[in-house]
Amino acid sequence: MHAVNAGYAKAILFGEHFVVFGLPGIVAGLPLHATARIKKNNQGIFLHCPWHQQPLNVLKNRSASVSKIGRMILAQLRIPFTKRFLIEVRTTIPSNGGLGSSAALSVAITRALSHHFKKNLSDNEINSIAFKCEKIFHQTPSGIDNTAATYGGLFWFQKKKPKNQTKFLHPSKPLPCILVNSGIHGSTKKAVARVRRRKQKNPALFRRLFKEYRRLASDALRALQNGDLSLLGTLMNQNQELLQQIGVSNSTLNKITLSALHEGALGAKITGAGLGGNVLVLASNFREQKKIQHALQRLGYACIPATLH
Ligand code: MEV
Repeated sequence: MHAVNAGYAKAILFGEHFVVFGLPGIVAGLPLHATARIKKNNQGIFLHCPWHQQPLNVLKNRSASVSKIGRMILAQLRIPFTKRFLIEVRTTIPSNGGLGSSAALSVAITRALSHHFKKNLSDNEINSIAFKCEKIFHQTPSGIDNTAATYGGLFWFQKKKPKNQTKFLHPSKPLPCILVNSGIHGSTKKAVARVRRRKQKNPALFRRLFKEYRRLASDALRALQNGDLSLLGTLMNQNQELLQQIGVSNSTLNKITLSALHEGALGAKITGAGLGGNVLVLASNFREQKKIQHALQRLGYACIPATLH
């Protein structure tokens, strides 16, 4: 978790989508990250990230999101557009997987530029620039992804004015988890827009879901602090039911959660925006974590074991 100029991936344990509407969420940093380096280049300002085969000319390519965020970060750091260099990004985070790859990218680039041009930005400043980048990527982000990408760790998050609330948590037991990739690309922008539309159409349903979720989130906080993995798993399953009701699950994601539970998982739910991406599975111990991982791999899903703490 301590690579230079890194932005960290995250898994949301509770509260994706609910956090956009100001309800609390619980999120954990993952041992996956994006890193950025500044290299010599004589032709202008270029950005090379693994999502694009070729380096993009940040000033000339007006449309690609990465180019837009490149310009945004340069402007925020007051780096003259007349400079010449290449920003090279490497990442171990699968994109469109609900693991915060875009926020990690923005944080890595901001950190690398701040370091190279001796801007000495604080983590708070990096976080707020990454939030502006998230708006470019996803329009109405809650701020949870950029906060996780900046600080890593496991924390309680709530979008608040004038300042989001972030409380770092120290669970009394590590959480043996598995990230199971559905193989379907999930778009955060589309998923968030879909939930917003549904909420507008059916405010009564969402009032009820929000009430249920609030209770669930505070029970989850207690379960985490007490190391009650069994209760935590049950609450994850309840959170998954709420995510189904707000319309961000699909048959593949439902099948993965059911298969994980069938293999003995304590809990399984979408992590991140849904409609694709990853399912987060909680096992009761490390032996079970391996067993469930192997069973899901035999069903054809790519899995990453991740112990959250
Ligand atoms: C995406 O990782 C989490 C969402 O809640 C969007 C957000 O909070 O910005 C779906």
